[in-house]
Amino acid sequence: MADDRLHGADADDERVRADDERVHADAERVRADAERVRAGDDHVAVGSGAGGADDAHVEAWDAMADGWTTLWAPMAAPAHALLADRAGVGPGTRALDVGCGGGQLLAVLAARGATVAGVDPAPRMVARARAAVPGADVRRGDAEHLPWPDAAFDVVVSLNALDLADDVPAALAEAVRVTVPGGLVALCGWAEAARNDVAVLASAVARHAGDGDGLPDQELRVPGGWERLLVAGGLGVEATGVVDVPWDLPDADTLVRALLLGADDDERDDTAPVVLAAARPFRTAAGGYRLRNAFRWAIGRRPA
Ligand SMILES: C[S@@+](CC[C@H](N)C(=O)[O-])C[C@H]1O[C@@H](n2cnc3c(N)ncnc32)[C@H](O)[C@@H]1O
Repeated sequence: MADDRLHGADADDERVRADDERVHADAERVRADAERVRAGDDHVAVGSGAGGADDAHVEAWDAMADGWTTLWAPMAAPAHALLADRAGVGPGTRALDVGCGGGQLLAVLAARGATVAGVDPAPRMVARARAAVPGADVRRGDAEHLPWPDAAFDVVVSLNALDLADDVPAALAEAVRVTVPGGLVALCGWAEAARNDVAVLASAVARHAGDGDGLPDQELRVPGGWERLLVAGGLGVEATGVVDVPWDLPDADTLVRALLLGADDDERDDTAPVVLAAARPFRTAAGGYRLRNAFRWAIGRRPA
């Protein structure tokens, strides 16, 4: 009996070791792929000075690629399904994801039979997206300079990314340019702070850093924001709404790593107690955290 338990423990250790090795090998592969992307095998206009993403901004996203993909992006799963449904993505749809990050939405679109493409300025995001959806045409570039010809896609989607462009109307104009006449542009991003528990935590961190009382609601986060952008871009609004994206974090360590993604060790040590204090109302009986969050979305049709 004792021997059986021992063998069981050995087998568990072996499994954990194998898992660690696999995770390490995956990370190494992404790092090597990102280096190839960075070296410019398919470099297109990024930070060209014509309103594109600047180097510091791209480097910040590059550094956060692993943490974003594993800690934050999965929260958006309800939005991925909704955008795919409401944009009518199915077999044969030619779909582009602008600011595709680690490729989670691309994977959902591909699983529906779409022919998918993605673009992101951060090499590590590009490498992750390529690994997530090996058949996808993922290129390095930014929303302001999409590296595809006119009318190449039936559907263009962008989730928590188009609003990061320096020139958002120019980025939308690019999305419209690569959408076929009569095709759809589907945009989605964080809703206003009042709908997002994560904003309570972000405000506490901002106050602690002396950055004022939290983050103001930008115009694309409030009701009607995406719709106004689509109409100004010459699109007809087809559908719009709010999607709940609750975020379950299993423990305090994961919560702190997620909330302080991009912070250095000193900053993390200094700010972790602030995050944990602000998160107290969101603790679950199981010792984790549940944050009630929401995104706003809108879909526009390019005139035929
Ligand atoms: C908040 S993450 C969202 C990633 C992905 N869409 C998701 O939902 O997981 C923002 C992404 O936009 C990318 N990004 C930043 N500036 C951009 C720009 N000007 N054009 C396109 N993508 C940009 C970042 O590299 C990052 O991958």
